[in-house]
Amino acid sequence: MDINDTSNIEQISPKVELINLEKHGDERGSLIALEPDINVPFDIKRVYYIFDTKSGVDRGFHAHKKLKQLLICTSGSVDIDVEYGTTKQTYHLDNSSQGLLIEGLVWRVMKNFKENTVLMVLASEKYSEQDYIRNYDKFKEMNK
Ligand code: TYD
Repeated sequence: MDINDTSNIEQISPKVELINLEKHGDERGSLIALEPDINVPFDIKRVYYIFDTKSGVDRGFHAHKKLKQLLICTSGSVDIDVEYGTTKQTYHLDNSSQGLLIEGLVWRVMKNFKENTVLMVLASEKYSEQDYIRNYDKFKEMNK
């Protein structure tokens, strides 16, 4: 199988949106629950987290055809550059009460990781290399 052959995966419309996550706070502190149909707009099939990122390291540099993800910076801070259609924007995530929803063909770069940052990502699909577009020129071509 050619892992670069993404032709058999359906594409979804690109979308990026900041979602406010309601806190259950009391005198003991805070708790946020993440649940499909309540505050996560997809069924969660995978969770991963990025941590111990070395100083000056940028990550990402890819888009997805079909995947929906919710990025939550549970500790520290990170900047997320997104590009889709004619939109180019940077989101500064430093608040565990906010999630950045990224759907479909969106080029993303994660950068400026502060020390001890934990970026948790909820995903709508299991890991599939076939869903990745890792070549920026190919992404631009598909974006036309
Ligand atoms: P990579 O896609 O390079 O991370 P990013 O682009 O978000 O910086 O992933 C790093 C490694 O981890 C790579 O070998 C693939 C593997 N990986 C998994 O096995 N499962 C996953 O869910 C993810 C996101 C990555």
